[in-house]
Amino acid sequence: MMPSVRTISDLLLQGRTHEDITRELYALDQRVFPGMPLLHAGVPEVWVDQVRYHQPNYRVMVDGGRLVGYWHVAPLTEPSFARLLHGDLADGEIELDDVQLLDQPGEYDLYFLVIAVDDEFRGPPVKLLLDAFGDYLADLARDGFYFRRLCANVFTPDGERLFRRAGMIPGSMQDGGGQIFSFEMPAMIDWFKRLSPELGERYERHFQART
Ligand SMILES: CC(C)(COP(=O)(O)OP(=O)(O)OC[C@H]1O[C@@H](n2cnc3c(N)ncnc32)[C@H](O)[C@@H]1OP(=O)(O)O)[C@@H](O)C(=O)NCCC(=O)NCCS
Repeated sequence: MMPSVRTISDLLLQGRTHEDITRELYALDQRVFPGMPLLHAGVPEVWVDQVRYHQPNYRVMVDGGRLVGYWHVAPLTEPSFARLLHGDLADGEIELDDVQLLDQPGEYDLYFLVIAVDDEFRGPPVKLLLDAFGDYLADLARDGFYFRRLCANVFTPDGERLFRRAGMIPGSMQDGGGQIFSFEMPAMIDWFKRLSPELGERYERHFQART
């Protein structure tokens, strides 16, 4: 059977605590990113705040009760996004205040911190997680929330393959390891169209109307 994709609130309703979820995601990171520098890996005691206060920014893949994959994104404030683009903000340094709560419709900047999947769930199940990312963006776009920029920090050949395939291009090297990949418009909209035609059309309409 294929695994399924859940929100943090689904996992809480099923009886896990924020601490459980953070611990399990951290263990997954340790499995798929062995040797990640502490500056980026951070510590569970810090990540638990992101899981607690920025719940909508995660989707988790579950198989038979085990957490086997996830993505974590963060709509960053403008100064934090600028630091990130200059390679000057490591994942483990991101604080609660660097992340914006999406409470007012408008345009934001999105940092794709991580997508990670256990070895045995690579390939087709990854599409479920990426579809869930398309749904996350489409739900926001329906409510008037758009991202004008999106970037990712790439540490591995797997990440490079995924983000290059999306259409991102390499930029600054990051303090503590990794390289920032980002989109130039309209490549971002082209990727969104591939994730979901409705999402792509909404973005196309929004950004065309604006120019
Ligand atoms: C990154 C990771 C999730 C990618 O998963 P993968 O199975 O190795 O990726 P693949 O390139 O084989 O793609 C698997 C499927 O995902 C989908 N996919 C991959 N990249 C995609 C993209 N840019 N857009 C849309 N779909 C994509 C496709 O459905 C693809 O299947 P297909 O090749 O049959 O079309 C996985 O390798 C992993 O967890 N690696 C360790 C952690 C890591 O390096 N993370 C990235 C840095 S944050």
